[in-house]
Amino acid sequence: MTKNGKLSAWVEEVRQLCSPERVHWCDGSREEYDLLCSEMVRAGTFVKLNEAKRPNSYLCLSDPSDVARTEDRTFICCKNKDDAGTTNNWRDPDEMKEMLRGLFRGCMRGRTLYVIPFSMGPIGSEIAHIGVELTDSPYVVCNMRIMTRMGRAVLDALGQGEFVPCLHSVGAPLAPGQKDVPWPCNAGNKSIVHFPEERAIWSFGSGYGGNALLGKKCFALRIASVMARDQGWLAEHMLILGLTPPGGKKVYVAAAFPSACVKTNLAMMNPALPGWKVECVGDDIAWMKFGPDGRLYAINPEYGFFGVAPGTSMQSNPNAMLSLGANSIFTNVAMTPDRDVWWEGMTEKAPPRLTSWLREEWSPGCGKKAAHPNARFTAPAGQCPVIDPDWENPRGVPISAIMFGGRRPSTVPLVFEAFNWRHGTFLGSIQSSETTAAAAGAVGMVRRDPMAMLPFCGYNMGDYFAHWLRMGRAAKAGHQPAIYYVNWFRKSAEGEWLWPGYGDNVRVLKWIVGRLAGTAGAVDTPIGRVPAPGALDVSGLNIGRAEMDELLKVDADAWLAEVKGIAEHYGKIGERVPREMHDELAAMERRLRAR
Ligand code: GTP
Ligand code: SPV
Ligand code: MN
Repeated sequence: MTKNGKLSAWVEEVRQLCSPERVHWCDGSREEYDLLCSEMVRAGTFVKLNEAKRPNSYLCLSDPSDVARTEDRTFICCKNKDDAGTTNNWRDPDEMKEMLRGLFRGCMRGRTLYVIPFSMGPIGSEIAHIGVELTDSPYVVCNMRIMTRMGRAVLDALGQGEFVPCLHSVGAPLAPGQKDVPWPCNAGNKSIVHFPEERAIWSFGSGYGGNALLGKKCFALRIASVMARDQGWLAEHMLILGLTPPGGKKVYVAAAFPSACVKTNLAMMNPALPGWKVECVGDDIAWMKFGPDGRLYAINPEYGFFGVAPGTSMQSNPNAMLSLGANSIFTNVAMTPDRDVWWEGMTEKAPPRLTSWLREEWSPGCGKKAAHPNARFTAPAGQCPVIDPDWENPRGVPISAIMFGGRRPSTVPLVFEAFNWRHGTFLGSIQSSETTAAAAGAVGMVRRDPMAMLPFCGYNMGDYFAHWLRMGRAAKAGHQPAIYYVNWFRKSAEGEWLWPGYGDNVRVLKWIVGRLAGTAGAVDTPIGRVPAPGALDVSGLNIGRAEMDELLKVDADAWLAEVKGIAEHYGKIGERVPREMHDELAAMERRLRAR
């Protein structure tokens, strides 16, 4: 329980609204976690995996209607519609509250209401913030214990202080005697709702990922982006990595890529170049503040990884594989006959027999996926073999470079450098990518996803660009991080990846470090600076001159078509797109036409 008056009053209010059978205050202990897991095993929600192969780990299969974030059911409710902007679904806060009260009334009947105090960021860090999630899902409790610092210690740190209230229900009350299903949810009434002015979150109907683990996208991005705007910092959809050249000085890099676009892989890669070392601070979210020395400092507000399972293997991402060797939860992957996990891409050959994520018998060639494309592992960050020694440093780590990027089969070069912060902000604002399975909806459609924040910015996107410009001015002269744009996904005319990716991405990082040190060459193009011929280390790679030219090519006609698309994109965002962004677009067009 708590002495925090606001918290106890809110818990009581929710108890009366939702009518749970009982209330449980989570202490975050191992005993509590084990007990909830064994209860979920009994209920058929969890399968205990083979203890010898994967100690203390569980498989969970969701309802097939609840497998990813639902962006069309995600809302930003501020008083003024323009403050949410055209890229968010807006509703009037009072009307939405009314609707939600209807949905939440009695929604926890027959269930336990869990109170989860959690800290985003190291407890006590000046950059960290506290939230409390109320949920009727034990799955959420167990995932939150891996993904955040959670329980007693947070309640103690909270004292009488402020917290972000995060209310969640799967929306499936139980009548007396009614048998529960393994994955209760309410597919028809999903509503992921944010009240940025009140700094509150109400999420109904979904138990999956970012819809339900409210510390992650809802708090650490949508609400935090508003707090950051008001308080002068940055809450971004970015990985943070430490990069040490052979015998050289370590630098930290942050990178914003859309969902399922390489953040986890890049954040903990084994570099293909000998002597280089990558260490991981975070794989999804960065909270960043300019320090008294004028440099930008970043923390990872999370405590675990909620990573895309398919495609993760000892070849592609050994450090992720080693992170999830124990104490992990697997959602919507397949299971082997000896109760271990499997997913597409985990091994070259699929096992002869599996149980698929749909609970069906599965064998290779059956024509179905064994794991859902958005199947995920929840693993403690501290288990990552290359976790950075400073990953829990409350002051954060100093960021020297920021990368933007996305999935583009054509047009966008492997890497190019922004001329300055303002141009870099422009590059972030025009970021684009093919959609992936991380959100419900069509996969492979190119969409503009500014700073990889399209689904996660809690306010008007034009104001967000203005905030980025303002933050650049807050840096001490000469201390602004350099900004880069990358595209690991360029394809040949035959549809093959032109770039090997994964551990070889360090070659791009090497060029960036060289740029920071003033030793690597670049040539100006109308869109930015690309590596000078020979400046990108491709030693040992089977990449010819022609392929390299193709990878770094800036095609003026293709980019003039982009200019048109960008103008439409700005038009859709509306009047609040800063004049500087339009000026940058006009300048780029002029440079393209002058070619
Ligand atoms: P969220 O957790 O959804 O925010 O995504 P993420 O950006 O962390 O995605 P992740 O790193 O897990 O990448 C997802 C997919 O990209 C996996 O299927 C990987 O196999 C694939 N992938 C990772 N690195 C590379 C790369 O360098 N090149 C190519 N072509 N594919 C990659
Ligand atoms: C993403 O979709 O960007 C994720 C997964 O990181 S989720 O937590 O579901 O948002
Ligand atoms: Mn993400």
